[in-house]
Amino acid sequence: MKNQAPIVVFDSGFGGISVLKRLVSIMPNEDFLYYGDSSNAPYGPRTQEEVCKLTLSAIGFLADRNPKAVVIACNTATAASLDALEAKFPHIPIIGIRPAVQQAASASHRVLVLATQGTIQSTPFQNQLKHLVTDAEIICTPAPGIVTYVEGTMKDREGILNYLRNLFLPLKDKHVDSVVLGCTHFPFAADVIQEALGYPVSFFDASWDVAKTTCQILEQSGNRNPQTEPGCVTFMSSSDDPQLMDFARFLFNKNLPTDEYATAGAI
Ligand code: DGL
Repeated sequence: MKNQAPIVVFDSGFGGISVLKRLVSIMPNEDFLYYGDSSNAPYGPRTQEEVCKLTLSAIGFLADRNPKAVVIACNTATAASLDALEAKFPHIPIIGIRPAVQQAASASHRVLVLATQGTIQSTPFQNQLKHLVTDAEIICTPAPGIVTYVEGTMKDREGILNYLRNLFLPLKDKHVDSVVLGCTHFPFAADVIQEALGYPVSFFDASWDVAKTTCQILEQSGNRNPQTEPGCVTFMSSSDDPQLMDFARFLFNKNLPTDEYATAGAI
């Protein structure tokens, strides 16, 4: 039966687990299949065509499991491939993620958007900036080193702090109020981003919105799972390193800076 089918969550690697956590917290009784394309990560420096091809191929493979929805928990893959995915899989609801720039801009004077190069250069993101309703200053900075840090199982804390301090040097005289975590890997590095900036900021990401939208789509189509027990979460990766599964579970259990949305009544 379709309502008992799994929800697929896809990312270039482990970052999408930051979105998976929100999905599970809103819909604990659903079954989730998380797939990270870690053997092809990072997607950020690749061309839009390459990212689109990799994403279509991964979702083609996952579509054989008959998911009732697919969440593209990757800003880079969403920007490069959402239209192509919707055209190729018209029978599956596909939900993408885009940087939460409007939310941050509505609450701040100066916003730092951290994302991948692929996202920042993409037409959908540039259109998002064009249509912003705000007086806030928006500064966009690609931060591929954070993806490398997270995919490398977050071992080199000193290395990432040095990288971020250098990355933020041009912002020395520009005190930002908010940071948009515009790549799903970045919530896992919020502590080092905060430390490298050296002053408190508010963090924004779109993970709760994506989870809420996914839940609404399933409710409207009558496809929520009727089971009352907790569902199961299965992790899969295109990389065959067995240790990566332990790391996936570690990330799944990690607290994130936007956790409070759950209690702030946003859902
Ligand atoms: N997690 C991805 C995103 O949200 C991209 C990371 C990468 O593979 O470069 O954009």
